[in-house]
Amino acid sequence: MVGPAVDALTALTEASERRAARAGDPAALELRGRAASDLSRLADGVLKLLESERTRVSHVLGDEVISVMTMARYLIEDAAQRLARSEYDETSEALQNASARIRDATYQLVGLCSELRPRILDDLGLLPALAWYFREFSHHNRAIFVSPRITVAESDVPPDLKLAIFRIVQAALSNVAQHSKASAVRVFLSLFEEELRLGVEDNGVGFDVERWRHRRHHGHDGCGLAIICRWAETSGGRCSIEAIPRHGARVQAFWRTPPATTTNPSALSPESGATPAEPDLPAA
Ligand SMILES: Nc1ncnc2c1ncn2[C@@H]1O[C@H](COP(=O)(O)OP(=O)(O)OP(=O)(O)O)[C@@H](O)[C@H]1O
Ligand SMILES: [Mg+2]
Repeated sequence: MVGPAVDALTALTEASERRAARAGDPAALELRGRAASDLSRLADGVLKLLESERTRVSHVLGDEVISVMTMARYLIEDAAQRLARSEYDETSEALQNASARIRDATYQLVGLCSELRPRILDDLGLLPALAWYFREFSHHNRAIFVSPRITVAESDVPPDLKLAIFRIVQAALSNVAQHSKASAVRVFLSLFEEELRLGVEDNGVGFDVERWRHRRHHGHDGCGLAIICRWAETSGGRCSIEAIPRHGARVQAFWRTPPATTTNPSALSPESGATPAEPDLPAA
């Protein structure tokens, strides 16, 4: 699915390079060359990300769900044989075991489906989907206190931005879990002067943003931050990435929106009574 897109991208950039060469404009040619190599690095990153997602899905399905289901089948076959021998207690025990294993596999599948594309986002909307994701994140990262500051109502968020916002929050929080060593992360979504603002900021180890840009330019590092910016830009917004080594990191995205209808402060509230740390970051 991604292969043809990469081919099309390559053909497109080559065609525009040829046009620039024909026009005899070396500056335009260099600019296009740089844009082309940025795009091809992003495409490489997307391919790598896709492969690591496939590996993860195949691990959950292949190693975990299939082995649990196979065990459940053996237990049911065993129960059938015991029933034929009128061993009712043992039959009942084997069936209860099989049922417990099928229930575990179902939980695994529900979790996997929700991660791939949370139905809650389509069925109930962005705010319930975020609330669900914060609960999941807190459950898997108990050392990081999540503090949501959502001061918009569902109707304030244009429908075509909802998936972008959800994916940006997912990618940014995954970075917090993987790299930050933070004890707290604040996620805010607000509407101010017809601008929708999303931010994820942590109080962790931070990183050197310039060094990240440089490394990214040379094809190193992952592509999560680049994809965050891509989500923001392709949905008509812009993004900003700031970090201070040893103090924390902040990822933000901004979109101009039509005049707001309603605002519902504290649509989501912090999940525990702990005091969230205020990341020591420069103002946006
Ligand atoms: N919240 C954060 N705290 C500390 N370091 C971070 C944070 N977010 C990103 N980084 C640093 O920036 C680098 C680039 O992040 P990015 O999300 O682009 O790639 P990745 O997380 O390494 O890989 P991928 O997202 O492709 O799995 C990370 O390797 C990490 O060093
Ligand atoms: Mg990442």
